[in-house]
Amino acid sequence: MEKNLNIGIVGTGAIGRTHIERINRKLQGAKVTACADANLDFCRSVAEKYGLKVYENGEDMIADDKINAVIVTTLDAFHEEYVLAAIKAGKFVFCEKPLAPEAQACRRIAEAEIAARRQLVQVGFMRRYDPGYRQLKALIESGEYGSPLMLHCAHRNPDAPGFTTDMPVENSMIHEIDVLRWLIGENYISAEVVFPKTTKYAQGALKDPQIMYLTTESGIRIDVESFVNCRYGYDIKCEVVCEEGSLNLPEPANAMVRSKASRMTPICRDWSERFIEAYNVEFQEWINSCRAGVVNGPSAWDGYLGQVAAKAASKARDTQTRIAIKTEPTPDFYKK
Ligand SMILES: NC(=O)c1ccc[n+]([C@@H]2O[C@H](COP(=O)([O-])OP(=O)(O)OC[C@H]3O[C@@H](n4cnc5c(N)ncnc54)[C@H](O)[C@@H]3O)[C@@H](O)[C@H]2O)c1
Repeated sequence: MEKNLNIGIVGTGAIGRTHIERINRKLQGAKVTACADANLDFCRSVAEKYGLKVYENGEDMIADDKINAVIVTTLDAFHEEYVLAAIKAGKFVFCEKPLAPEAQACRRIAEAEIAARRQLVQVGFMRRYDPGYRQLKALIESGEYGSPLMLHCAHRNPDAPGFTTDMPVENSMIHEIDVLRWLIGENYISAEVVFPKTTKYAQGALKDPQIMYLTTESGIRIDVESFVNCRYGYDIKCEVVCEEGSLNLPEPANAMVRSKASRMTPICRDWSERFIEAYNVEFQEWINSCRAGVVNGPSAWDGYLGQVAAKAASKARDTQTRIAIKTEPTPDFYKK
């Protein structure tokens, strides 16, 4: 495709607006030109700010010939209907994570895409585009450090108002579930979740922190700490312990200040600051691949496998047992 992509976005909430801003004011090769949202008044105010055409119905926007590609940033429960509408219209569609809240809904999307005989769907697992995780993957794949044996990870937020005990696995650690499977190239076979002592800052009945344990096909053991009231900042850690070395996710490059007999390096405040570069790279690569006619980012099958593992981890948390994860063979359509 020679000319710019015209993108229609469904969902002009918090992250939808950051994607419009990023695509229309920073990135090249595409513009968001249309939007739809269940909250029509708010959608109109967003459209006015960015000069977009408003559609009262998301499906009508997706079907319009003037729209070349679609972004879905509605609440999770409504992703499926819009992604299926985009597949039906034969258009590339970027869907924020999770692809759908239930694994079977993700499966239906994968089946619709296979029936359409073209990979049209990309899921918003943006950590795969973070330069630090990409460095870790290159180091693992170099083979120089031997096989990964253990991964120690942490996902900390300063606070998370309204969070309940069931949310850390499927709302935040879903990112680790996806990025670690991509990093080490293996599926998971089991999940467990344990509760350390709860912080005094946890609201209501929230159990915080939580630790999720995952085991992979070859026996790699992974621990992911989720601590959503850590108070000090937004902090993401990942150490891959290999047979001949330990590989660490780089910290964001913030200037160190020496003052008052101490050294201080700022820590990010939230995910949008920590992963700003990942989002930029993710969308620029998606735009480029839509224009080239071949999308190859995180697929609907990745979205499905992520939800299968997340549901197992949720069950493990609720039953306080170890739950087996059964992964179906990857359909030929999704083999790269
Ligand atoms: N990649 C990430 O790390 C990341 C970060 C934040 C959010 N997300 C995902 O992005 C999505 C949106 O999150 P958010 O924080 O912007 O939420 P939000 O509540 O701010 O926005 C959601 C928008 O969807 C609209 N909406 C709800 N039902 C709709 C329907 N049936 N049709 C059309 N519009 C509808 C709402 O009116 C609202 O404007 C969620 O799926 C969330 O999980 C991903």
